[in-house]
Order: sequence, then C-alpha cells, then structure tokens
Amino acid sequence: MSFQEFLKWVHPEDRERVALSVKESVSGLRDYAIDYMIVRADGGERFVHIEGEVLRDELGRPLRAFGILQDITERKGAENTLRQSENQLRLVIDTIPAMAWILLPDGTMDFINQRWLDYTGLSLEEAIKEPTRSMHPAEIPRVMEKWGRDMAAGEPYEDEMHLRRADGEYRWFLIRTVPLRDEQGNILKWYGTSTDIEDRKRAEEALRETQAVLARVTRATVVGELTASIAHEVNQPLGAVVTNAAAGLRWLDGKRPNLNEARQALQRIVRDGNRASEVVARIRALLKDGTPIKTQFNVGEVIAEIVALTEAEAQRRQVSVQTRMESNLPRVTADRVQVQQVLVNLMLNALDALEEVIDRPRILTIRAGTDSPNSVRVAVQDTGIGVDHEQSKRLFQAFFTTKPNGLGMGLAISRSIIEAHGGRLWMTPNDGPGVTFQFALPVQNGGAA
Ligand SMILES: Nc1ncnc2c1ncn2[C@@H]1O[C@H](COP(=O)(O)OP(=O)(O)OP(=O)(O)O)[C@@H](O)[C@H]1O
Ligand SMILES: [Mg+2]
Repeated sequence: MSFQEFLKWVHPEDRERVALSVKESVSGLRDYAIDYMIVRADGGERFVHIEGEVLRDELGRPLRAFGILQDITERKGAENTLRQSENQLRLVIDTIPAMAWILLPDGTMDFINQRWLDYTGLSLEEAIKEPTRSMHPAEIPRVMEKWGRDMAAGEPYEDEMHLRRADGEYRWFLIRTVPLRDEQGNILKWYGTSTDIEDRKRAEEALRETQAVLARVTRATVVGELTASIAHEVNQPLGAVVTNAAAGLRWLDGKRPNLNEARQALQRIVRDGNRASEVVARIRALLKDGTPIKTQFNVGEVIAEIVALTEAEAQRRQVSVQTRMESNLPRVTADRVQVQQVLVNLMLNALDALEEVIDRPRILTIRAGTDSPNSVRVAVQDTGIGVDHEQSKRLFQAFFTTKPNGLGMGLAISRSIIEAHGGRLWMTPNDGPGVTFQFALPVQNGGAA
C-alpha cells in the first residue's frame, strides 16, 4: 500500500496531522504514535491508535516501518463523555456564587475556582503559592491558629474573616470547610467555600446601632416618666438639709451654744446631702449607655433602690408596692445598671397595667429568690388588666405596644439584656387577675451572699 493510498483511509480532518507525524518518524525525529479517525469502506468512522517503529540500516536510512493499529472508538467515546462531564462540573464550580477551593491535608492548595481568582485578582500560581495572601494581615494569626486546631482535630471548619478584593477593599467572608475521608477515615482533602457576607454584616451593624439608639430613647423615656419620683427623691433629703441647717444655727445661737447638738445636725446634713447626690448619680447611671460593666451584687439591693425611685409614682397611682425577698440571696455577676433598667421597665409596665383597675386593690409585688443553686429569680407581679392570648405571643417583639404613647421597646430591650447575661425573661398569667413577669439570672461561682 502506498503512502497516498494509506492516507486515503484517514479522515480528511486528520490527514495533515497524520502525514506530518509519519514524516517525522521516518526522518527519525520521534517514534510513531498517533490517534486519528479513519473512514471505512462503508462510510463508518472509527477512532484508531497506531504505534510503531521505523527500522533502519547501519547508515540510519529507513528500511521499513511496522506497528500495531488498535480500534479505540469505544475508549474515545468514554473519554469524551468524561471530558464533557468534567467540563460541566468545572463550569458549575466556576460559576456558583461562592469561591470554592480544595486543600490537601498538608495545607497546600489543590484547586481554586475562577471566582476566587476573579475576586482576589490573583493568578492561579499566586493564589496557590500563598494561600494567606488575600487575608487581612491583622487577622492571619488568629485565623491560622483556629484553622490549625480544627484541621488537626479533623473537624469541619467555619470562620468569618476579611478577604481583599482586587481593588484593595476588604470584605467580610464566611469560610466553611469539610474534610473528605477515605474508607479508613484518613483525610484525603478539604473542600472549602468562601461566601461574601459583607452585606449581611453591614445590616447586622445597622441593626445594632438602631437598637442602641432605641435603648437610649427608652431609657430617656423611662427617666421622663419618673420625673415626679425623682424630684421627690431629691427633694426629701434637700428638705431635711434645710431643716437641719436651721436647727444647727439655733444650737449655735445664744449665750451658750450647744456644740454637741450642732455637730449632730451637721452630720445629718452630710448624710442627707450624700443621699441626694446618690439619687442623682443613680439617674445618671440609668441614662448612661456604653459597654456593659459586670460586677457582683445583690439583686435585693437593686430592687430596694428601684422601689425607692418609683415610690412616689406608685403612690400617685394608688398602687401598693410590696417586696418579698429571700434572705441570703446569692450575688449575681451582671451589669448593675442594665438590671436596674429591666426592673424599671417591668415595674412601669405593671403600673400601667394597674391604671385602669378600679374594682380591686392595685398591688404590685416584687419577689426575689433562688431558683436553683446557680440561678436567682426575680418576679414582678401585678393585679392589673392582664394580657390576652393574642398579645401574649407578641409582647417581646420590638415595637409591639397597646399604649397610645408606648414605644413597644421596653420588653424587647429587657429580654435582650437578660439573655445577654445568659438568663431568661418570660411572662405567666396569674391565677387571679394580672400577670407576672420574671427573669432568672445565672449565679457564678463565688456568688455566695
Ligand atoms: N404587666 C403587664 N400587664 C399587661 N400587659 C402588659 C404588661 N407588660 C407589658 N404588657 C403589654 O406588652 C406591651 C409591650 O410592652 P413594652 O414594655 O415592650 O412596651 P410599652 O410598655 O408599650 O412601651 P415602652 O417602650 O414605653 O415600654 C404593652 O404595650 C402591653 O400591652
Ligand atoms: Mg413598657
């Protein structure tokens, strides 16, 4: 068979390639090995693989060529399907709205999808050579420490961190990784995704700011509602100061001043002056915001303070306030001012609920006791109008209010305060009229009274 005849069987598209390859092997450039298509006499196309050698004389001139020819049509078909599904998979991985990557157990990058490269603006080589390159330098030590720990434990890893975009902006990402194991449980690879959560982070931040503003507004409202009480609390010691000062002057007057009595009057002045300034300090604390400051204290003392602060207001509304406090309450570790705020909110709600009651005594009872060895419970009970079933489901929602001038933030803020302390705040209807709001605060070791 002549070379031309041989080429006739080769598929027209492959002819040039095959001719070149034959030429190269004849000239001794390389051995003969090529895949190509042939056209059979019946017109059917087959894929063949040919592999051979050229025999030469002692001068290197080609004598003859021989080789084997295999029909590889089936194999080619399978390879094509595989390549197609691989391409499809790659397309999916490159277009999913997340950055995906594969890491080997020794920490080297095995694969990075196109989205990662697009986001970071790095080349594949750069991204593989230095996986931490897009992280924020300040976060690298913390991230690597956690990453190392989770990898060593073979546990799925989850973290939030900043990643630098091609234009230099850092955005928040959620990183998740899961291990792929063989049958023996050895980790073969880590599969990971990085999801952009910058917008969510911003929304969370805005929400936190709004809540802080609202908390400030409610506190201001609370203090506003207590003006009468506060004035009373401050005026009482001031009145006593004036009385004692007058008495002191009288004791100093005359031919034989009574120094002893005068001294006692002055001591009472000091005491009452201090009391007045304590009240002012307490109001200022109630209005203050900022990061919570945790201290150990007795909830009973806080209750006594708030009862004193609301006393005049309760009197004005003809409500009798009673306290039932267990002796030797363990001390809680909490932000004192925030616990005060919760109590004031609950008491003001109770006073409001008692406003319309005319056919029975208006009673507000505050109880404090130990719930269990490691929890203190405070209950604010009223004989007020109560809460119907529909309302009870929404009480703690922000902006839920049934009052014409209510903001509907009192309970929402109170609950978030108590929960931030690891406690609970809930409501139960009374057997008789009214409801009881109560909260439990955990007692840390060393909370003994
Ligand atoms: N002790 C209570 N008895 C009956 N209903 C109550 C009681 N406490 C709260 N509620 C109901 O729950 C609603 C929400 O209370 P919340 O303290 O969150 O807001 P508010 O008192 O309406 O307004 P503010 O933001 O000024 O506190 C009240 O409007 C009221 O309907
Ligand atoms: Mg309220």
